[in-house]
Amino acid sequence: MTPTPAATEDPKRLAEFEARIARGDTIEPKDWMPEKYRRQLIRMMSQHAHSEVVGMLPEGNWITRAPSLRRKMSLLAKVQDEAGHGLYIYCGAETLGVDRHELVSQLLNGTAKYASIFNYPTLTWADIGAIGWLVDGAAIVNQTMLAKASYGPYARAMVRICKEENFHKRQGFEIMSLLSAGTPEQRAMAQDALDRWWWPSLMMFGPHDKDSPNSGELLRWGIKQKGNDELRQRFVNLTVGQAKAINLTIPDPKLRHDAETGNWAFGEIDWDEFWRVVKGDGQCNRERLTARRKAHADGAWVREAAEAHAAKRARLESVA
Ligand SMILES: [Fe+2]
Ligand SMILES: [Fe+2]
Repeated sequence: MTPTPAATEDPKRLAEFEARIARGDTIEPKDWMPEKYRRQLIRMMSQHAHSEVVGMLPEGNWITRAPSLRRKMSLLAKVQDEAGHGLYIYCGAETLGVDRHELVSQLLNGTAKYASIFNYPTLTWADIGAIGWLVDGAAIVNQTMLAKASYGPYARAMVRICKEENFHKRQGFEIMSLLSAGTPEQRAMAQDALDRWWWPSLMMFGPHDKDSPNSGELLRWGIKQKGNDELRQRFVNLTVGQAKAINLTIPDPKLRHDAETGNWAFGEIDWDEFWRVVKGDGQCNRERLTARRKAHADGAWVREAAEAHAAKRARLESVA
């Protein structure tokens, strides 16, 4: 029988590690960690970084078409923040001993995943509102939990990132709120954006815990603090009131308040659609990867120039 990676770990060290996690200690880059913990973190952090970077594409599409200078400035700042989040998390992943170039090439050659939500198109300006409100809103629910993750560099990155995500969410909600209170056409545009983005936003929390191969281990090692279903429920509970406040209707006939649990019960997600998009067959999967590959190729001269400059400085310093 081939031993599993966990079974090959020194049981004493593994027990000490798990005791540290149980005590709520933070694991730092130079601490001993099981190989599987390291691998799970690299997978999760790189997927997260890729999502921040690919997430710039659907919104970047609207920077030149923002309806006012103020909106354009906010959107530019938001998209720029997402680039920063990506770079920050790539740095965090590098503390686990992986090279960023390796992670980026996994994204570009299609072997790495990123959040499926970004494989949906942005058809109208209201989509920018819906993304800020719902997609960044869902990200905040996820990332607030990750700020308590057991791995120090990831947790600290999340604290900083969540502050910016709050601004992203607010600018999105403000767009939706103004459109909803605007002309009948603007209102219809806001409702249509909510109709299209609602279900993909719920999918952002991933499959049910019972269908999620990684959930158990991630929870046990404190990489995640709560399961996918609990976080999804928290997001729904938070968002129903916000939709009501701006007079928009969540597109779910099964949505109802459960007095017993205090939760908003909701209908079943279309899991066929979820897996189809995860496996690469969403509306924009190909377009997004093509855009990333082009951006990477177009940026080659910047990387070469930076390397040449670094080499020149090193040469000058060695002479001085
Ligand atoms: Fe972000
Ligand atoms: Fe964001």
